[in-house]
Amino acid sequence: MMTQITIALTKGRILKETLPLLEAVGIVPAEDIFSSRKLVFQTNRDSVRLIILRGSDVPTYLQFGAADIGIAGKDVLLEHQGDGYYEPLDLGIARCKLMTAVPVGAPVQTGRLRVATKYINVARQYYAEQGRQADLIKLYGAMELAPILDLAHEIVDIVDTGNTLKANGLVPCGEIADISSRLIVNKAAMKTKHTEIQAIVDAFQNAVLKP
Ligand code: PRP
Repeated sequence: MMTQITIALTKGRILKETLPLLEAVGIVPAEDIFSSRKLVFQTNRDSVRLIILRGSDVPTYLQFGAADIGIAGKDVLLEHQGDGYYEPLDLGIARCKLMTAVPVGAPVQTGRLRVATKYINVARQYYAEQGRQADLIKLYGAMELAPILDLAHEIVDIVDTGNTLKANGLVPCGEIADISSRLIVNKAAMKTKHTEIQAIVDAFQNAVLKP
């Protein structure tokens, strides 16, 4: 019987940069992902299907082996702190930075700092390393709003062009990590479907080296 490989992709910005890479690897979705509400897509290869997930769910599917291969932002992987998967390849796409940001001209906060972010684990570690006491407030989006409404003194978020910060009166401050998308592979699948998975990982490696 043919070995089925499920590849979990991150929807949104990363997906746009992922599809040309997938094509270079020789995997083409059977229909246009962007004009469909489907979550599972067959491809030109009978043995490969794609699933489309929120970024933060990709490591979860990989951890439990519900998908064999995944593509997720390093920000999501740092925050997830899961195991059960390898991270064999930096795909070099969707590059950005994970940063702290504060309102323009904000006074230096001497007391306890309130920080809004969806990256609670990353932020906890970052402020601890800085030796700063911080109360973390979990948000799921629009972090930039938190300082404007006094919910928090600063935020931890992804910065790409910096336009979102600027448009909301914030400036980048501390650099936490360089981010790009990574290929991840379920550990058990790497053993049980080794030939098929290694071939796909190698093809991605070649596509990254020769864009
Ligand atoms: C990210 C991030 C910022 C924005 C930064 O959100 O949360 O809001 O992009 O990009 P910029 O520096 O180019 O303005 P995204 O649009 O990825 O949506 P999300 O909040 O769903 O992650």
